[in-house]
Amino acid sequence: MPEATFHFPRGFLWGTATASHQVEGNNTNNNWWNWEQQPGRIQQGHRSALACDWWGGRWKDDFDRAAEAGQNAHRFSVEWSRIQPTPDTWDESALEQYRQMLRGLRDRNMLPLVSLHHFSDPLWLAERGGWENQEVVAKFEKFVRKAVEALKEYVSLWCTINEPNVYVLEGYVSGQFPPGKKNFKLAMQVMANMLRGHAAAYRTIHAIQPEARVGYALHYRPVVPARAWFPLDRMAANLHYAGINLAFPSALSGGVMRSGIGNVSIPEAKGTQDYLGVNYYNTFTVKFDLLKPGELFGSAYFPKGSDLSDNGFNANTPEGLFTAVKWAVRTYPGLPIIITENGIECADDHIRPRYIAQHVRQLWRAVNFNWPVKGYFHWSLVDNFEWERGWTQRFGLWALDPETQVRAKRPSADLYAEICKENGLSSQMVRKYCPEIFEKMFPG
Ligand code: FCB
Repeated sequence: MPEATFHFPRGFLWGTATASHQVEGNNTNNNWWNWEQQPGRIQQGHRSALACDWWGGRWKDDFDRAAEAGQNAHRFSVEWSRIQPTPDTWDESALEQYRQMLRGLRDRNMLPLVSLHHFSDPLWLAERGGWENQEVVAKFEKFVRKAVEALKEYVSLWCTINEPNVYVLEGYVSGQFPPGKKNFKLAMQVMANMLRGHAAAYRTIHAIQPEARVGYALHYRPVVPARAWFPLDRMAANLHYAGINLAFPSALSGGVMRSGIGNVSIPEAKGTQDYLGVNYYNTFTVKFDLLKPGELFGSAYFPKGSDLSDNGFNANTPEGLFTAVKWAVRTYPGLPIIITENGIECADDHIRPRYIAQHVRQLWRAVNFNWPVKGYFHWSLVDNFEWERGWTQRFGLWALDPETQVRAKRPSADLYAEICKENGLSSQMVRKYCPEIFEKMFPG
């Protein structure tokens, strides 16, 4: 049998990603906590409650798990509503707790990548129109200044905003995230304000910390037309692709936000990234559908026979990760790329080992073109609160029982540990953890 190892460059970052509201617990002062109290918003009436109890201190054990598993980096977010509980107050003890977490990472030789916004907004901000109101730009900048001043001793790799495109789509198009609106005009306005906020944060961080590397995390979704020969499918796929993917990237390349349904000039956004964070989960197929004007005349789905996750929320489409990196390299030649999220929901872990192995393999293909991919962060370290899907989806390398806070290691955690420690993926690992794809991955 063939023996092989797909090696990665020295110094490659291997970690996991988390977000404040999903792991900390008792985040009572933000729009998501509020949303969770409203009947019908979260599947099965689930609540974030204690989440993974990181605010109660369980981050220590989880960081131990990550470090022992060979991870040399971790991406987490700081919670704006904790640091600035009201417009006129700062909570220094919250900042101290984040400093402790950052010291915790340093002690474990793990590099932090810190997100300053990951979906949740302080209640006071939401009550003032959130990101719909252009005043948010100055408010976000003020918060970023405070957080970066407090944490700069430990952090130089920053992510301003996580998945602005998902925040806008879910909050202002599908209505599944707060504030639950369905309004294209507002969606454009919010996206434009997020771009302005990102650009302001980029400059503020660099003014405080010239050596900082600042970017954001784009949810990138490759799209294929259901019938490549059918022009209407191609049109629907193109609209879907542009609508999901291109607003932020176009403004960062050329200073104009192009969303597929309208353009907004935001010259200050041009060039405001030192790396691109790519969150890749899966590739969608899109078919023309006259009955879906609200979805730009396209139905997005995973074709019959796809390798699906437990709830059918994700499909295992690894080539899309290569496509995503290729797109990033072509769009921004020379710009470093970090895979800031990639993962799949699966409670019994039957699909995750092959998902990880096949995605790492695609990343290795990309790295072998000398494309500047610097790291990979798996979503996620431990099961956590999955937004409007509550606890129905399990993305962790470790399983969590949120009632008892007991963690249980999934086999994927061991596979990922072997990858991190080897700085590569070997045929032995594939044979051990996902033999079902061995022949496909190592034919002959
Ligand atoms: C991404 C989010 C992250 C998590 C994963 C599964 O869109 O950034 O918080 O919910 O999906």
